[in-house]
Amino acid sequence: MTHSTSRRQMLSQGAALVGAASTGLLLPQSVLAQSGKIRVGFMLPYTGTYAQLGVAIENGVRMAINEQGGKLGGREIEWFKVDDESEPSKGIENANKLVQRDKVDVIIGTVHSGVQMGIHKVARDSGVLSLIPNAGVHAATRALCAPNVFRTSFSNSQPTMALGEAMVKRGHKKAVWITHKYAAGDEAFEGFRDSYTKAGGTIVKELGLPFPNVEFQALLTEIAALKPDAVACFFAGGAAAKFMKDFAAAGLKGKIALYGSGFLTEGVIEAAGPAAEGVMTTLHYADGLDTKRNKDFRLAYAKTFKMQPDVYAVQGYDTGLLLIQGANAVKGDLSQKPALYKAMEGAVIDSPRGKWTMSKAHNPVQDMYLREVVKGENKVLGIAAKALADSGAGCRL
Ligand code: BEZ
Repeated sequence: MTHSTSRRQMLSQGAALVGAASTGLLLPQSVLAQSGKIRVGFMLPYTGTYAQLGVAIENGVRMAINEQGGKLGGREIEWFKVDDESEPSKGIENANKLVQRDKVDVIIGTVHSGVQMGIHKVARDSGVLSLIPNAGVHAATRALCAPNVFRTSFSNSQPTMALGEAMVKRGHKKAVWITHKYAAGDEAFEGFRDSYTKAGGTIVKELGLPFPNVEFQALLTEIAALKPDAVACFFAGGAAAKFMKDFAAAGLKGKIALYGSGFLTEGVIEAAGPAAEGVMTTLHYADGLDTKRNKDFRLAYAKTFKMQPDVYAVQGYDTGLLLIQGANAVKGDLSQKPALYKAMEGAVIDSPRGKWTMSKAHNPVQDMYLREVVKGENKVLGIAAKALADSGAGCRL
């Protein structure tokens, strides 16, 4: 081979290499995966009863990531958003907008348990990383658990598992249960039923109405006639504010004690006004948690978003923290799935709610607080259950 031939060959091989590299043909998958922005999709309710919950979650995620320089494992982020309207019938279609159309690397959503099942199907079928920042549907971290699905919030029966004993201890032994009738309320009931009856309480009646109906009047009349010691309930968002107001307007406040899973008084105390005062709940967060971590978080959130944070903002924030830990462990290459999942499974989340870890089924192991609304704030009365884990029944990972 003459010098000029070899030079020509080298040049043309070099040109071929450049061409292949620019189309991505010769680059290893790990380099390709790191070359662009990480695509993060929010699937959350931005309209309807749970709209403010969706906004708080998105705020929390963005705040956590912005605090760490706005990148994930050194890579910039491209954001995508879909309003799921808390509409289960559109769950799969909406999740596919993010996964198939927008080609997101990670889907963050959602609030409503029924909609979550749509996301869950798409996540299991596609293998896309799915982070659940609220919806507590049991199946997601029980029988249908999956290696690529992680929840940063709670399972639906976790908060109410801590409620029953607290009610009986306060002398409220005969209760009516009332809820929106869908997975979240029905599974919250399971936790309440088990803890309340185990502590010696009797459930006089179970009442319900379809989501998102808020015509409570007939049910409140029935409660008045039943004369229980207490009412325990699951409602959230706009429905929770209306329930507390209607309960007071029906003349029941002060006569029948009102309890709930803590969503009842999250983000809605101002809207409910005096009707919320004295309401007792159990949850994995409280505004009044007296820790530096919580106080710093609340101050920074209020400064940034000009509103007070609630449990949904905390769950969003923790979702951001989990994603950061996972992405940092693989230097932004989310295609390294075993390493990504291992890092997320072993993460200790230093949350405003207190430190928590992931169960084997990918659901938080966390403390539950007993809270009371005092002067417009969820005040902590104590820890109702320490390091509470969901059963994870049927999960094989
Ligand atoms: C749920 O549908 O899982 C849910 C919605 C709002 C608050 C808590 C749970």
